[in-house]
Amino acid sequence: MKALILAGGKGTRLRPLTYTMAKQLIPVANRPILHYVVRDILEAGITDIGVIISPETGESVKAAISTIFSGWARFTFILQDQPAGLAHAVKTARPFLGEDPFLMFLGDNLIQGGVKQVVDALAVGSAAVVILLKEVADPRAFGVAVLDDRGQVMHLVEKPKEPPSQLALVGVYGFTPLIHHAVERIKPSWRGELEITDAVQELLHTGHRVDARVLEGWWLDTGKKDDILEANRIVLDEYTERRVEGVVDAESVIAGRVTVGQGSRIIRSTVRGPVVIGSDSLIEDSFVGPFTTIGDGVVMREVSIEHSVVLDGCSLERVGPVEDSLIGSKARVRRTDGTRRTLRFFIGDDCEITI
Ligand code: DAU
Repeated sequence: MKALILAGGKGTRLRPLTYTMAKQLIPVANRPILHYVVRDILEAGITDIGVIISPETGESVKAAISTIFSGWARFTFILQDQPAGLAHAVKTARPFLGEDPFLMFLGDNLIQGGVKQVVDALAVGSAAVVILLKEVADPRAFGVAVLDDRGQVMHLVEKPKEPPSQLALVGVYGFTPLIHHAVERIKPSWRGELEITDAVQELLHTGHRVDARVLEGWWLDTGKKDDILEANRIVLDEYTERRVEGVVDAESVIAGRVTVGQGSRIIRSTVRGPVVIGSDSLIEDSFVGPFTTIGDGVVMREVSIEHSVVLDGCSLERVGPVEDSLIGSKARVRRTDGTRRTLRFFIGDDCEITI
């Protein structure tokens, strides 16, 4: 079986960050989202992996995957010239996919527990497609499935205004080559995209069987700023270990599960986990509270921050309390007056803000 990762698209809902980086490369607990996706695929035993990339961010996606995983799998990068939909991406990947069954994984989805249950269900061979579902309170932003009494998929609809159920389509699919014929038959949706949901619905129409698995663990579609912060919170909560490789002076307190990377220095500061601090960062006279990730080469002086993500090379001076913030790489934020009120930021790369 092959795998197809979708790492193209424009990421418009994550601007300004996605003006300068692929949304699949935004770090969660200091690792790009895409790394979790590749890890899950490898853990399911698949090593022949196609990756859909866009003209704008393709090179950075290639670099991010190749540097970490090149010895572990064979990657084929496939350029999709425009983000014309998930089914269009499958069509673009057809020469790579051939007549093999494949697992498709959207590069901005994070799920708990991996993808093995989808791979195993497809390998049984009784269904044309296996989809993964998750019950959510408001599924209007997703594909939505209707099941019958025996749990068989009856009907699928993409982003319905009035959802017929609360079962959202998670971005992990198991496909047999039948999907290619369905992709050839569908028309672009109201948003101008070839929807994979429509292609699966087309298979249902023509009498094919679509099986579903319901995900018990968490699922995060990292489409917006708050999704990234929520993903960061959950991943830090689940995986952070206490490991201090940098230097912590005698006046600092490191409480709970905190990772401090090599070359980082914590001076007269309190860090309360779960927190991950990358390498070569300086935290001075500051408080870093729970569910915060700080990248490499960050400088913080007189800062109080929690529940936030600070990317590589940022400099923050005399700001805080800062919370619920996502701060792009090399951004500089400093305060020159004495007032202290809570600040919430969503700042792109290379910005400079003085308060
Ligand atoms: O996240 C789950 C949802 O993903 C499903 O519930 C929906 O049924 C499915 O249509 C999809 O909806 P989104 O609107 O969230 O998809 P998005 O445009 O965010 O694209 C998902 C990923 O695929 C993202 O990593 C970008 C990539 N992509 C997207 C398009 C449209 C491509 O590689 N090429 C494309 O043409």
